[in-house]
Amino acid sequence: MARDKSSPSTGAQTGEVESTEGFSGAISSVAANGASAASGEAAIEIKNLVKRYRNMITREWVNAVNDISLEVKQGEIFGFLGPNGAGKTTTIKALLGLIFPDSGVVKVLGQAPGNNEIKARISYLPESPYFYEHMSAKEIINFYASLFGLDPRERSKRADYLIDLVGLASAGNKPLRAFSKGMLQRVGIAQSLINDPKVLFFDEPTSGLDPIAHRDIRDLILHLRTEGRTLFLSSHQLSDVELVCDRVSILYRGKIRKMGRVDELVIGGNVEILVMGLDPTPTVTAELTALGAKLEQSGRDTLIIGKADIESKNALIDLIRRYKAQLIAVTPTRRTLEDIFIETVREGEVEAGEATKFAEASTAEALEVK
Ligand SMILES: Nc1ncnc2c1ncn2[C@@H]1O[C@H](COP(=O)(O)OP(=O)(O)O)[C@@H](O)[C@H]1O
Ligand SMILES: [Mg+2]
Repeated sequence: MARDKSSPSTGAQTGEVESTEGFSGAISSVAANGASAASGEAAIEIKNLVKRYRNMITREWVNAVNDISLEVKQGEIFGFLGPNGAGKTTTIKALLGLIFPDSGVVKVLGQAPGNNEIKARISYLPESPYFYEHMSAKEIINFYASLFGLDPRERSKRADYLIDLVGLASAGNKPLRAFSKGMLQRVGIAQSLINDPKVLFFDEPTSGLDPIAHRDIRDLILHLRTEGRTLFLSSHQLSDVELVCDRVSILYRGKIRKMGRVDELVIGGNVEILVMGLDPTPTVTAELTALGAKLEQSGRDTLIIGKADIESKNALIDLIRRYKAQLIAVTPTRRTLEDIFIETVREGEVEAGEATKFAEASTAEALEVK
């Protein structure tokens, strides 16, 4: 990926230290301050955000973020999804006050970003965190803690606690140049927790990680959830998102194409009704078609696939009763978040009049000028 600026020395380098510790041990030794569900007050507010960039080669303006609006409640884990170039990082940077919107309003904890009081209560894990490689994990956490003005004793305690929390206790004194990408990502997460933030912004925290590091980071995110923190998580690791997020939005070419609760999105709009003894006569088939349903016959069993809204479901059940058939099961069909993501991005492509396939959805990225 053109944008991946991860240092070459962070990969599968010789002499790399690989941590075998997971997060779970460390987590269980830490007293969680009680699970808290999403509360009413908004942690993040975005209203009609627009950010444009000029491509330095073609001189054309690109709407990196094109009129998006959303709200994240306190305590929510919000998944901000989209293919490369969709505008995820741009939105996060606007929320952090690192770039200025062309129009629209963004607020974090009710305040404009960039406000120093708010900065002290939030944290950011960038796409490719970079650390001074000659320092150890403990030194780096200590260093950042000093920037937050923590006194030396408290600093060192906090560093030990965080290094332990992210499963790096045995590697805490080794220089970061010997760390794998997954371990550096753990350091990034430890760093993001120094100031005990209320709102965290993680930009693609699991991209490019091996399966174990990946699972560990995901577990740590689940842990943050139990602490009642708000997390704005940009990712295209959809299985993680499905597991950890309360709500998601799917961004494509700077626009939100879909937004909702993960559990509602994956249920989808269909229901499967298994029936015995329904004769699939042309009249029955026509009635089903009129209800937007279809049937599949297998022996004496009939599977009716219909819409999941209450009215359609009741009408289908009435029909089954009317024909004196036996109702065996009613099952809402589940889709994966990946199905929904691909479907949403494809719809976006069709609307944009693009003949490209999903795999090439990052055309916008090719235009990128840094
Ligand atoms: N500094 C910049 N200058 C010019 N174009 C940019 C800049 N940053 C981002 N873009 C463009 O804005 C769009 C969105 O980028 P980005 O927010 O990084 O997407 P994502 O994080 O979803 O991959 C892309 O088309 C990208 O090329
Ligand atoms: Mg990005």
